[in-house]
Amino acid sequence: MNLAASRIAIVGVTGVVGREILAILESLAVPPSAILPLASPKSVGTRIPYSGSSIEVREATPQSFVGCRIALFASSSAVARELAPHAVEAGATVIDNSSEFRMRPGIPLVVPEINGRSALRASPAPKVIANPNCSTIILLTAIDPLRDAFGLRSVHVATYQAVSGAGRAGLDALKAESEAAVRDGSPARAQDSPFVEPCFFNVFSHNSAVDPSTGLNGEERKIIDESRKILGLPDLELTPTCVRVPVERAHSQAISLRLEHKATEAQVREAYAAHAQSDVIRIVDDRAGNRFPTPLKAAGQDPVLVGRIRPDPARPVDPDGRTDAWCLFACGDQLRKGAALNAVQIAQLLDETGIIKPASGYRSITV
Ligand SMILES: NC(=O)c1ccc[n+]([C@@H]2O[C@H](COP(=O)([O-])OP(=O)(O)OC[C@H]3O[C@@H](n4cnc5c(N)ncnc54)[C@H](OP(=O)(O)O)[C@@H]3O)[C@@H](O)[C@H]2O)c1
Repeated sequence: MNLAASRIAIVGVTGVVGREILAILESLAVPPSAILPLASPKSVGTRIPYSGSSIEVREATPQSFVGCRIALFASSSAVARELAPHAVEAGATVIDNSSEFRMRPGIPLVVPEINGRSALRASPAPKVIANPNCSTIILLTAIDPLRDAFGLRSVHVATYQAVSGAGRAGLDALKAESEAAVRDGSPARAQDSPFVEPCFFNVFSHNSAVDPSTGLNGEERKIIDESRKILGLPDLELTPTCVRVPVERAHSQAISLRLEHKATEAQVREAYAAHAQSDVIRIVDDRAGNRFPTPLKAAGQDPVLVGRIRPDPARPVDPDGRTDAWCLFACGDQLRKGAALNAVQIAQLLDETGIIKPASGYRSITV
């Protein structure tokens, strides 16, 4: 099968994740004729620049997917619930960015470098694959070298999440509020904001609903459930606190880990060094210069930036310098590795493993 003859549908192509998917496919030299750009009826006819030309947005309907081999969904859970079965029926493999399918038994939840091959090996080949929550992807990517080398007992994470995590409406709210604050001299919530609090000059609990019995918000619940599923560690202890910060793009995380096995700082840095040359993690850890990961440094980048690597001062350190408790600070672009890039990497992995046939113009990733 050949990519030009059987297109890649992007459902939600006008959104912040959809646009990023398009940018990545463009960078991979996927031809315009191979892209089927879909969105809601209100965007029909919109032209989006692509590869020196432009492509015209069409309405996403149950009939849209004929001839598509891959359908990348970057819309709401409701849209995925309604349209993904039609995409599958038409013969496409669905890779969905929403939370609709993530925790369903039998649906692989995939971060390619962490569980890609094992999760996709199922037979028959999965027809729907879920892209994890952006904070989950960034967290698991940042800690993966340590989990791999020393085992994982527990994780505490405090997130500082960018407003674009709430889509185009989040970005619009920050822009409107910052302009109004400069104009009027005081911060106020934008009228169409997806947040209940003003986002400019402010930090507030993640905008997902809070469970009245557990007190966890939706983002915190997703980090717990999805991390356990991806790592195959159903009892892993995770303690997340998720908030929004007035940052346009890229989520930050303060992470504290307890490892199964103690390690020295040299061993911890060695574990990272094995990944530092890759596109997956970049170490930004300049103690002398006080330069560490920031969302501005991570924005638009593929790797997750990791720094502030240090032993947890609350835990004992052996005389030989070994401890099981480590602290990190990580920043990752949630629109790239946290969403669009991870989804495209899943498609590439499907190609590579022969679950779907290779597409011309794709660069492979090594996992
Ligand atoms: N933003 C992030 O950082 C992030 C990270 C990970 C996962 N996600 C998930 O990715 C998905 C997309 O998020 P986003 O942030 O890109 O949202 P967004 O900027 O609000 O974009 C939403 C997209 O969905 C489209 N849409 C709305 N109704 C539709 C319909 N009936 N049929 C087809 N398309 C429809 C919109 O098209 P119109 O322009 O025509 O309305 C738009 O293209 C969500 O499930 C989100 O939870 C987001």
